[in-house]
Amino acid sequence: MHRLRCITCGKEYSPEAGRYLCDDCDSIHGTLEVIYPLDEMKIVKKFDSRKGIFQFGDLIPAKSHTVMDDYVGGTPLCRFVDKFGYKDISIKYDGTGISASYKDRASIIAINRAIEEGNDCIFCASTGNAASSLALLSANTNLRTVIFVPSTIPKGKLAQLMVAGAEIFPVEASYDEVFDLSIEIGLSNAWYTRNSAVNPYLLEGKKTGAYEICIQYDYDPPDYVFVGVGDGTIISSLCKGFKEFYILGLIKKIPKVIGVQAQGASTLMKVFEGGKLIKESVSTIADSISVGNPRDVIKACKYLSDNGGRIISVSDDEIIAAISLMAAETGIFSEPAGAVTLSGLLKSDLPRKAKVCLLVTGNGLKDTSNIKVKSFRTFTIDEVYSYFGKE
Ligand SMILES: Cc1ncc(COP(=O)(O)O)c(C=O)c1O
Ligand SMILES: [Zn+2]
Repeated sequence: MHRLRCITCGKEYSPEAGRYLCDDCDSIHGTLEVIYPLDEMKIVKKFDSRKGIFQFGDLIPAKSHTVMDDYVGGTPLCRFVDKFGYKDISIKYDGTGISASYKDRASIIAINRAIEEGNDCIFCASTGNAASSLALLSANTNLRTVIFVPSTIPKGKLAQLMVAGAEIFPVEASYDEVFDLSIEIGLSNAWYTRNSAVNPYLLEGKKTGAYEICIQYDYDPPDYVFVGVGDGTIISSLCKGFKEFYILGLIKKIPKVIGVQAQGASTLMKVFEGGKLIKESVSTIADSISVGNPRDVIKACKYLSDNGGRIISVSDDEIIAAISLMAAETGIFSEPAGAVTLSGLLKSDLPRKAKVCLLVTGNGLKDTSNIKVKSFRTFTIDEVYSYFGKE
């Protein structure tokens, strides 16, 4: 039912196996978007926010082939009153899934497409979350899974990878370099790729977060949604998901999407603001969004201008502070790339009456290295009794 269209020149392609990029454009400009005949599609509001992403039927360009398909998506949206200076604020928490990050939504689509297209091997380059999600979700399939990550990957993410039984290459290089390496090896071997931007279908899994936010707000979505930005796929997917629900007549307004980057890795923000394509070396404690050559930059800029949103940046200190503040105030423990959303909100100048949703894309247990554990003394059992006045 869907077709593929080049994000830059608009050339359309039918979705045949092995089609990743436009023939006429380079790998950054020639990423493809998945398009549907939305005007002809009749979708009724019968969705359940606790069900997985395959409930969205024709809006999902893959059939379900694996046991895990029903367990991706359907994550909680926790709604708070009077938090962080806002009357109505929610956290959409994607740290609860199979691999505890938003990446499950994309990996499961890639796995099912790989199976459908008759592949026996799938690969990806990742800062860590896409990799651990792919490795865990493909563990129960017959797919050979090959993973390339920077060797600086946080221990929690590495542990997930190690136990999942994939072939893992922690490479002494940046994510941007590992990405290029993986494409060279993977595509020359004709393996199926789960690399951001190159595979247009990933975004179709990720957009379901936007669908679920609409459903969880009873089809009256918030004014603003904040999200961490690296390659730019998640932010693009949110803009696309909200727009599709709007065109389908399921919502009456589209939330503004606000991307948040780390100051030391704000390449996509610079391109969005300056209009000039750049690549740079980057550094931030938020490893998942430490990206200096964002692969989905063209789509992200196009979709974000259409959405009317923007991108802001925050310091590493602000991110570290936000992790603790969020956990202490709401009970949600986020990894740095998710906590940027709170840092971004605190830095923004939104009206206090705005309805705001923060998308927390990864569980805090994945990377605890930046958490400042307060120095503490230990107690004997007798000391604890005496502390509470019992002899
Ligand atoms: C937890 C988390 N948040 C945000 C992002 C950013 O997503 P994208 O690279 O699509 O911009 C990632 C990507 O790895 C991630 O793992
Ligand atoms: Zn093109």
